[in-house]
Amino acid sequence: MTAVGSGRTRLEGHDKVTGAARYAGDVPADGLLHGWPVLATIPRGRITGIDTSAVQAMPGVVAVLHHGNSPRLVEGAGWTDADPNLQLLQDDRIPYAGWPVALVVAETFEQARAAAMALPVKYHAQPWDVTFSAAHPGLYTPDEVNLHQPSETAHGDLDAGLSASAVVLDRTYTTPEEHHNAMEPHAAIAQWVGGRLEVVDSNQGSYAVAQDLAKLFALDLSQVRVRSEHVGGGFGSKATTRPPAVLAAMAATVLCRPVRVVLTRRHMFSLVGYRPPTSQRIRLGAAPDGRLLAYEHLTATQTATTFEYVEPAGVVGKVMYAADALRIGHRVVRLDVPIPKWMRGPGEAPGAFALESAMDELAEKCGIDPIDLRIRNEPAVAPGSGRPFTSRNVVACYLEGAKRFGWYERDPRPGIRREGRWWLGTGMGAATYPGETAPATAAATAEIDGTVTIRITAADIGTGARTALAQIAADALSLPVEWIRMRIADSDFGPAILAGHSFGTASWGLAVDEACKALRARTTGTPTEPITVQVNTAELIQAMGRPERHAFGAQFAEVAVDVLSGEVRVRRLLGVYAIGRVVNPLTARSQLVGGMVWGLSMALHEEAVRDPAFGGHLNANLAGYHYAANADVPDIEVGWVDDPDLANPTGIKGAGEIGIVGVAAAIANAVWHATGIRHRNLPITPARVL
Ligand code: MOS
Repeated sequence: MTAVGSGRTRLEGHDKVTGAARYAGDVPADGLLHGWPVLATIPRGRITGIDTSAVQAMPGVVAVLHHGNSPRLVEGAGWTDADPNLQLLQDDRIPYAGWPVALVVAETFEQARAAAMALPVKYHAQPWDVTFSAAHPGLYTPDEVNLHQPSETAHGDLDAGLSASAVVLDRTYTTPEEHHNAMEPHAAIAQWVGGRLEVVDSNQGSYAVAQDLAKLFALDLSQVRVRSEHVGGGFGSKATTRPPAVLAAMAATVLCRPVRVVLTRRHMFSLVGYRPPTSQRIRLGAAPDGRLLAYEHLTATQTATTFEYVEPAGVVGKVMYAADALRIGHRVVRLDVPIPKWMRGPGEAPGAFALESAMDELAEKCGIDPIDLRIRNEPAVAPGSGRPFTSRNVVACYLEGAKRFGWYERDPRPGIRREGRWWLGTGMGAATYPGETAPATAAATAEIDGTVTIRITAADIGTGARTALAQIAADALSLPVEWIRMRIADSDFGPAILAGHSFGTASWGLAVDEACKALRARTTGTPTEPITVQVNTAELIQAMGRPERHAFGAQFAEVAVDVLSGEVRVRRLLGVYAIGRVVNPLTARSQLVGGMVWGLSMALHEEAVRDPAFGGHLNANLAGYHYAANADVPDIEVGWVDDPDLANPTGIKGAGEIGIVGVAAAIANAVWHATGIRHRNLPITPARVL
């Protein structure tokens, strides 16, 4: 029996549940200082004065860093693009409410907080605009969306397709601004040790953070070490370098003492990226048999004045359905708001809400079962590129899901199943997310005690990545998993892709597999001196090209709608996926369940509300920003189908992001089935249901 494919509990599980595992905010240090970021209270303007005198006399206060006295940073740091969010305390400009204007440093966390609250900051406010609308006059067409993908994709004659269609659907779907709330808030501790800047940070990729810090502080990369051994969730918010690491390093440099910066929930609402609101207009034209003649998906969204991040909601259309004519477009408006960024299933999560809701509406109009409609529109090649898929097992997901859920027992008519004041319904939606592979460095060391140590700058953000990699190593070496020692999340181990975009297990797994095979070729038995082999997969991955490799899934929901209170209860959720080879069924299942919980939360609860009068949020805390709690979540069932795919030799596609995709549509479609009313605006709150 191989290690890959068998369920294993986390290698670090005991440390986590006994409190031995140290997160960035737990790392002790002699002479530790605490930094508290002070946030701007206006959304646009300039700082005209920061009076530090009174605060500096408060108990325990050591320093107040601001644009007038902080170290100068080199510009240009940031993953793929220079990130203005890292140019902290450099000038007097305020680009959004919640921008850091000072860092108060004190002997204790409480002293830093008290002084930060008392710090008087004067502003000159300028007129601002924080209100997104799909009719905003400032909307423009960006050149690209997210990771340098084109903003527009088209083929065929859309107008001709629409006029030839027997059934035409034209609908607009909206999703609100949604925010990251990983269990562990962002945190970092920085100190100079023997001429090196040493940082323990909560992040999804320590190598890139080390590169950014080296650049910002004009250091050689060898002078910076970043580690993130344990991370309590990231979901995109920790994918790039975030203010705590930079602020802690600035203060440690000025004060020559270790400094820790831990964000609060309020800080997280402006400093770590978020999912921007979208308004998506979808036009579908179909023949009487449901075959798509035309499909248009136009997304409007918001970005910041200082950085252009465009939520790529239309990307689902490049993958999901065949249509004679296709047009995908994105438009964006710059507002005086924080910089949006990746949040689990960026693009696909809001995009699938719109597309999968529209497909349900089309199925209703055509009188065709929603699954049958999807199967009739299965594409032979990727609709966006015209290239073949490496594997595409979404139909198997539909059929396996339908069987397990009892889908075909449903009466398709809406509003007929009742249970007292509860109206019941079922719905489904499809899911997709890329399964890409990116370069990583891995080293395998044969130790003199017979064990093998693996070193790789992977991040285990709670997913079980460490354990999955040990399983891959064990099989490559024909050793028991217990003989593998995993060392991860240390920038000294060399470059490796971050834990994001469902990259992790497929990319690091390939590097670990290669390193172990190379070690095996070099050694037999237990060596008398440790032997290390290091590999980097950059060339291998270059040779693989960028094939159309995608994971797929089918989401099913049963809801009960209380017609008196407007409450929607999800009674059942089932997700069936085609995610390539599953390394650890136990942790993969948890990943997918977590994504589905978030999809439920997106459907029913999450919405950040901004007040145009002061430009900030009304609910930047966990009291006002509700996300699904245990009481909101039913038993969730997860399954997967065979999905052999050797475009990556490990066969792994990735399960990190896809769990959230399509869930909100499945729930909205179930609410329609229960009540006969379509909800095209998320979240589906009681006020909207009534
Ligand atoms: Mo991904 S958006 O880094 O979870």
